[in-house]
Amino acid sequence: MQKQLTISPIFFIIAALSVWLLKHISCEITTTTKSNGIILNKRLLHDPGECVGNLTRRNHPSADPLGCYILNSSFHIDTLDGLSNLNFSDPYKDQDGNLMDPGLCIIHCADYLFKFAALTNGNKCRCGNNTGLDAYTKLTDESSINKTCNLKCVGNSSYICGGKDGYTVYDALTSISSYSAPTIDINKKLEIIHNLNKNVRYKGCYKDSPYCNQRFLNGTSEEVSSMTIESCLTYCWQKNYTYMGLEIGSQCFCDNDYDNLTRLSVEECSFSCEGNNSEICGGPLAISIYNASNYEEA
Ligand SMILES: *[C@@H]1O[C@H](CO)[C@@H](O)[C@H](O)[C@H]1NC(C)=O
Ligand SMILES: *[C@@H]1O[C@H](CO)[C@@H](O)[C@H](O)[C@H]1NC(C)=O
Ligand SMILES: *[C@@H]1O[C@H](CO)[C@@H](O)[C@H](O)[C@H]1NC(C)=O
Ligand SMILES: *[C@@H]1O[C@H](CO)[C@@H](O)[C@H](O)[C@H]1NC(C)=O
Ligand SMILES: *[C@@H]1O[C@H](CO)[C@@H](O)[C@H](O)[C@H]1NC(C)=O
Ligand SMILES: *[C@@H]1O[C@H](CO)[C@@H](O)[C@H](O)[C@H]1NC(C)=O
Ligand SMILES: *[C@@H]1O[C@H](CO)[C@@H](O)[C@H](O)[C@H]1NC(C)=O
Ligand SMILES: *[C@@H]1O[C@H](CO)[C@@H](O)[C@H](O)[C@H]1NC(C)=O
Ligand SMILES: *[C@@H]1O[C@H](CO)[C@@H](O)[C@H](O)[C@H]1NC(C)=O
Ligand SMILES: *[C@@H]1O[C@H](CO)[C@@H](O)[C@H](O)[C@H]1NC(C)=O
Ligand SMILES: *[C@@H]1O[C@H](CO)[C@@H](O)[C@H](O)[C@H]1NC(C)=O
Repeated sequence: MQKQLTISPIFFIIAALSVWLLKHISCEITTTTKSNGIILNKRLLHDPGECVGNLTRRNHPSADPLGCYILNSSFHIDTLDGLSNLNFSDPYKDQDGNLMDPGLCIIHCADYLFKFAALTNGNKCRCGNNTGLDAYTKLTDESSINKTCNLKCVGNSSYICGGKDGYTVYDALTSISSYSAPTIDINKKLEIIHNLNKNVRYKGCYKDSPYCNQRFLNGTSEEVSSMTIESCLTYCWQKNYTYMGLEIGSQCFCDNDYDNLTRLSVEECSFSCEGNNSEICGGPLAISIYNASNYEEA
């Protein structure tokens, strides 16, 4: 009894302090993580208003999936091989391994103008063109659907992302109402991606943090639907920043340095710029970095 009376007030003080700290300081803490043996300082976000909850912008389908599919082995081919036909990672898995959800897969496929987005194993994404489901069979029996497409998405447990052998398939081009696929064809898109390095200012495609207040470039930022490489270079250069980065087609970030340990393959920076579909402006949680210094003189 005596013991409880002395512990309780301390407990309440600690609890109250923790709540206060979380409420007032959590958005200003610089956390550190280890990557390849090197400690990285995760950066602060300039404008806390940009965060939606704890995460940066995620997409959610407005349509139900087309169904639960399995590969029909009697076909001896796999028609959901769109990404490997482009020599991209197939299946596609986000770098952290914990972000996959229907929105991420649908957008990844639609960015490359595929018709179908198929989620499997809870964490993997594959894409197919118009013939993408030819070698697949749609399950119709509810109990086999429940047994086959039974894994929650690692990035959002509100959704099913297929199963060990099951594929939850969406129509990639119509399932996200806020998203429009690029208005160029896939050959043009690949040509643009393969020529990115010809721009001497281009520094590569990097992983951005999904978490609030830990963006890759934290100096200042803007989001506009007329975004292009040139408008972001101008924006950051005018604010005297050395680097600029583009993300999800319409976001521009500036900073004076960045760590280059989290470089992604170029295929992850997949969004066409909203202001010019003949340019690439990053991707979902992937940022295209450029050198913005002395831009005016270029
Ligand atoms: C918020 O982000 C932190 C990392 O900064 C993470 O550990 C935590 O799980 C996230 N919380 C939610 C609810 O997603
Ligand atoms: C696989 O395809 C063949 C030929 O179209 C069909 O007869 C068979 O029922 C399919 N198998 C399954 C499991 O759907
Ligand atoms: C669709 O994908 C198949 C392979 O799955 C390929 O043979 C075909 O050329 C593709 N068609 C188009 C229009 O890309
Ligand atoms: C993929 O790589 C193969 C072999 O290197 C090449 O023949 C093919 O043209 C490439 N496809 C694309 C779309 O780049
Ligand atoms: C399948 O799963 C749904 C949702 O969990 C459930 O309502 C339904 O009863 C299940 N059907 C069968 C046949 O197991
Ligand atoms: C998960 O999906 C649900 C339903 O669309 C959505 O309300 C929720 O915000 C999502 N959670 C995350 C972390 O994206
Ligand atoms: C960006 O992050 C660095 C530390 O990582 C910090 O020193 C700097 O003040 C931040 N800038 C802004 C504008 O928040
Ligand atoms: C940028 O730097 C120049 C030269 O140092 C200075 O005159 C100007 O005021 C700076 N602009 C901003 C927005 O900081
Ligand atoms: C980027 O990484 C390479 C090694 O991959 C290193 O040589 C280079 O100095 C780094 N550049 C910057 C600006 O950190
Ligand atoms: C769009 O970008 C391409 C490549 O940078 C450029 O050649 C073209 O002039 C731009 N179009 C417009 C309307 O600015
Ligand atoms: C950025 O561009 C400027 C002007 O072209 C150049 O002087 C500088 O060396 C470049 N910096 C990097 C890191 O590429």
